[in-house]
Amino acid sequence: MISYKEVGLVNSRDMFAKAMKGHYAVGAYNFNNMEQMQAIIAACVETKSPVILQVSKGARDYANINILRNMARGGVEYAHELGCDIPIVLHLDHGDSFKTAKDCIDNGFSSVMIDGSHLPYEENIAVTKQVVDYAHEHDVTVEGELGVLAGIEDEVSSAVSHYTRPEEVVDFATRTGVDSLAISIGTSHGAYKFTPEQCTRNEEGILIPPPLRFDILAEIEKQLPGFPIVLHGASSVPQEYVKIINEHGGKLADSVGIPEEQLRKAAKSAVCKINIDSDGRLAMTAMIRKIFDEKPAEFDPRKYLGPAREELKKMYMHKNIDVLGCAGHALD
Ligand code: G3H
Ligand code: 13P
Ligand code: ZN
Repeated sequence: MISYKEVGLVNSRDMFAKAMKGHYAVGAYNFNNMEQMQAIIAACVETKSPVILQVSKGARDYANINILRNMARGGVEYAHELGCDIPIVLHLDHGDSFKTAKDCIDNGFSSVMIDGSHLPYEENIAVTKQVVDYAHEHDVTVEGELGVLAGIEDEVSSAVSHYTRPEEVVDFATRTGVDSLAISIGTSHGAYKFTPEQCTRNEEGILIPPPLRFDILAEIEKQLPGFPIVLHGASSVPQEYVKIINEHGGKLADSVGIPEEQLRKAAKSAVCKINIDSDGRLAMTAMIRKIFDEKPAEFDPRKYLGPAREELKKMYMHKNIDVLGCAGHALD
């Protein structure tokens, strides 16, 4: 058993209480490799932001849980070396079972998500409660989910979204004891969140997606005052990256994300955690494609992963400062 406390990590309890009070959201950024982790930590130190390093089941399969934990440990020491001990959570994203969640808790994670959103309601409650009971024995925080996002949720895919039903949230939170709740109000995973048919086009021909259901969010806040809410599927799919990718041999058609102004608005509410993965993938891919195209003789990985890491850092800084509002809140 490895406690996250030995690794220098924190759970999300205080972090969310401060985010709620300060009307900002903490970035939950997925990582699978060293460059992503370095970019996240460097960006969060430079903007003095708290951060959630997020690991999916896919990331575990790709990188190995011990390597990921030690990268998070490295992240803690890297932040210290850069001169700011920002609070860092290591979080399991979309945990699919009690076993996966327990394995992460036993391996130094400070927070876990148990995603029973695709299960019948009572089964979601049962598995979430089982995870909460074990996690709380170890002072680990738990995120549950109600409502289904469209798109791919790790290995769970759903063609359509089912918005969270505000009438269920009190019962779910009370019976499970979760510390935060992921909800579905119109975000979705991946770079293709909306079909062009679901969007309208503005004067410049840019696709504008349907707005998030702030009415459902407001009703959830009314039912569960002061309770930390989580938004998944919150990438904005920056069109400059889509353009670079497509100009350098890529083929990303009509990718549309969540407009940043809507995330800014959500971050001021009870939304305390905003998950962003796809935008990081786009930033890295854009830089790597550009370098491969412009310098075909280059074959030193540091020469393309380095600039990709630099671009990622810039992107996370922008998220913290301009979108989530968490910049400057690391030492609240
Ligand atoms: O919500 C899903 C995350 O973007 C993780 O994706 O399972 O491909 O690592 P992944
Ligand atoms: P995006 O695909 O919109 O980045 O969402 C990531 C996410 O929700 C991870 O859990
Ligand atoms: Zn997600």
